[in-house]
Amino acid sequence: MSTQLASVTTLEDRTKRVTTQTLQEMRRAGTKIAMLTAYDYTSARILDGAGVDVLLVGDSASNVMAGNETTLPITLEHMIYHAQCVIPGVQRSLVVVDLPFGTYQGDTKRALHSAIRVMKETGAHAVKLEGGAVALEAIQRILSAGIPVMGHLGLTPQSIYKFGTYRVRAREEEEADQVRRDAVLLEQAGCFGIVLEKIPATLAAEVTESISIPTIGIGAGPSTSGQVLVTHDLLGLTKDFNPRFVRRYADLADTIHDAIEHYIEDVRAGTFPALDESY
Ligand code: KIV
Repeated sequence: MSTQLASVTTLEDRTKRVTTQTLQEMRRAGTKIAMLTAYDYTSARILDGAGVDVLLVGDSASNVMAGNETTLPITLEHMIYHAQCVIPGVQRSLVVVDLPFGTYQGDTKRALHSAIRVMKETGAHAVKLEGGAVALEAIQRILSAGIPVMGHLGLTPQSIYKFGTYRVRAREEEEADQVRRDAVLLEQAGCFGIVLEKIPATLAAEVTESISIPTIGIGAGPSTSGQVLVTHDLLGLTKDFNPRFVRRYADLADTIHDAIEHYIEDVRAGTFPALDESY
């Protein structure tokens, strides 16, 4: 076990492309998978260079890039654009693209068409879509075209108007049971992983034990096979969003604010540019 663990974390391996098989090996070896969102070239390059295993071109771009209240307004064209911006910055990470609201629900042909467009027009490696049993036919059809699919259970933000709130899901036994059943269905269908969002840590641990594909948690406790966060939250760029599951590793909003104030002061004072910054 320890040699397997070491082999996944050596520097040499950090230059090898991450595939869906790599994630499965990491799960088996007990090496936690680190996943983060990316929507543009510059950030993708930094995150990939730092060793993030999976980059998610998430439909959270609707919130953090476009300023929408929900993920519902973002379109397939927007998602394709963001994925096209991310791919040139990536050498190692597996790039997964969210299929946005309205591009796969209730119409398997449309679902397949949306997934094919993402793969063909962006060069991404996989798609993610929300839902278990309700999305099963769409998932099967996409998988039948050879496109890897990641599932997403628990709090599924595209259904926010059904839930009415972003509170923790599956606290009640009936919904917890649905999550358990959905996870098994997604594994049986052939998904290579499942995001578990905002569910009790004990349920996430149980689901992770019960299936043999990696689970990636967000607000789902420490026992999942890996973790995902929205990069802007982790970096402290979204200061007005403070759920318990976000750990801030930097305060970039303050750092950027101070840098910009300093720049304005220098411009006003005529001290920027200096002679050695001029031609
Ligand atoms: O869109 C997104 O960022 C996501 C993560 C929260 C998992 O789906």
